[in-house]
Amino acid sequence: MQFISASLGVECEFCHVQGKFEADDKRPKQTARKMIAMTFALNKENFDGHREVACYSCHHGKNMPVLYLVRETKGTGRLSDLRPQERRKTLCGKRHFEGALGVDYRVVTLASELR
Ligand code: HEC
Ligand code: HEC
Repeated sequence: MQFISASLGVECEFCHVQGKFEADDKRPKQTARKMIAMTFALNKENFDGHREVACYSCHHGKNMPVLYLVRETKGTGRLSDLRPQERRKTLCGKRHFEGALGVDYRVVTLASELR
């Protein structure tokens, strides 16, 4: 529980009714229960049950996770080589994520460029 609080950057009362830990009245507690199941399933299905993904992996100390970067994968990194429709989508993505949301946006062709 200490670990969950720290991962989300919240106090126990964010999820629990003070002095009544077993009560399920608070919505974040219900969400957290689903998140625990999701995290468990992620590790089970992708990492042989090793705890590779934890609350912190997505939450980074925030109750509402922040999107840090967006990587669009395409056959080519050169905008001029893309089909018109793909090029438009890429430009829209760039404007939406980088312009409006301030998220780091890049087109990549290889997984090794994902950093
Ligand atoms: C992000 C939400 C969240 C935070 C923050 C949190 N808890 Fe919990 N806690 C849960 C959930 C969900 C369960 C129930 C787990 C289950 O159903 O298996 C739980 C269960 C418990 C229980 C057992 C009672 C029960 O409902 O099964 C205790 C005691 C408890 N938490 C104490 C704490 C303490 C102390 C803190 C602060 C250090 C804390 N929790 C912070 C979500 C949270
Ligand atoms: C794979 C990424 C991911 C992991 C792992 C993850 N979460 Fe989340 N969590 C999210 C996203 C995305 C949201 C926001 C959902 C939304 O916008 O409604 C969220 C929302 C929540 C909320 C609601 C916050 C609020 O302000 O209402 C709680 C509580 C929460 N997560 C708890 C947890 C706990 C506890 C764990 C670890 C057991 C966990 N999460 C693991 C992605 C993740």
